[in-house]
Amino acid sequence: MPQLLHGNPVRDVILEECRKRIGGLSRAPGLAVVLVGDDPASAVYVRGKVKACEDLGIYSEKLTPPASVTTGELLDLVDRLNQRPEVDGILVQMPLPPHVDTKRVLLAVKPEKDVDGFHPCNVGRLVTGRPGPQPCTPAGILRLLHHYQIPIAGRHAVVVGRSDIVGKPAAMLLLQEHATVTICHSRTPDLAAVCRQADLLVAAIGRPAMVTREYIKPGATVIDVGINRIDVRREAARIYGGSPDKMAAFDRNGSVLVGDVHPLDVAEQAGAYTPVPGGVGPLTIAMLMANTIAAAEKGLS
Ligand code: GUN
Repeated sequence: MPQLLHGNPVRDVILEECRKRIGGLSRAPGLAVVLVGDDPASAVYVRGKVKACEDLGIYSEKLTPPASVTTGELLDLVDRLNQRPEVDGILVQMPLPPHVDTKRVLLAVKPEKDVDGFHPCNVGRLVTGRPGPQPCTPAGILRLLHHYQIPIAGRHAVVVGRSDIVGKPAAMLLLQEHATVTICHSRTPDLAAVCRQADLLVAAIGRPAMVTREYIKPGATVIDVGINRIDVRREAARIYGGSPDKMAAFDRNGSVLVGDVHPLDVAEQAGAYTPVPGGVGPLTIAMLMANTIAAAEKGLS
């Protein structure tokens, strides 16, 4: 039986550390979350972030400009947040509407308030092994691997996906811990053969159940970053082989969540893997809380 790498126990450890650190501050940390437009998935993520702040006693503020907002208006908004001393962290939820210049907006966030680690200055720190905020999901993956004492050094890690939010920073963090890292993506020839070499496979593609048995070396550790909602019953039945539990869940909720890794194949092939939901998911928000507290600690010291 493979080992299941549950995220919740790791999240609880991180949040407990957060509580202790907040107790040592002279005032509550503050986080501003900018949610542009009405993308339902982004709204769910932002709700989770604001709720986590409330639970920990972090002051949070949600700003919700409409999807029609211009790049200039967003730059002004970010600039106002940059200047407010009680706002320690600024998070601009991705993705932004296509007409907005995302790179300019991310560049406008003060690096000291960049709790996502998306500012090029902080990306540079990450790549050159300097301390600084690290993107939340990749940092959460590393915490998960450490928690379960999964070896990294000397192992071949294959990261599928090259996004600035997950794929690239995850590869950098694994490299820093002495893995041999391969980054691959949709244009990699014979993707399955490359993935099959991985001792540690990180799937961050955004395509439901794409990583099937022929991608997974027997005994590998598989980290599934995908969270895809399947709302077509036939599709859910195909992926889950008609599992009565999963189909009952589908009929109750009208959808089920599936990662980027095939849930039945990974259970047969992997030595250890993160379930979806309940694997990597809980860690992103916990790391955001930790990054916000770190920004407040620096600002108050
Ligand atoms: N969209 C998906 N993941 C993230 C994240 O970690 N931070 C931000 N700002 N947007 C995201």
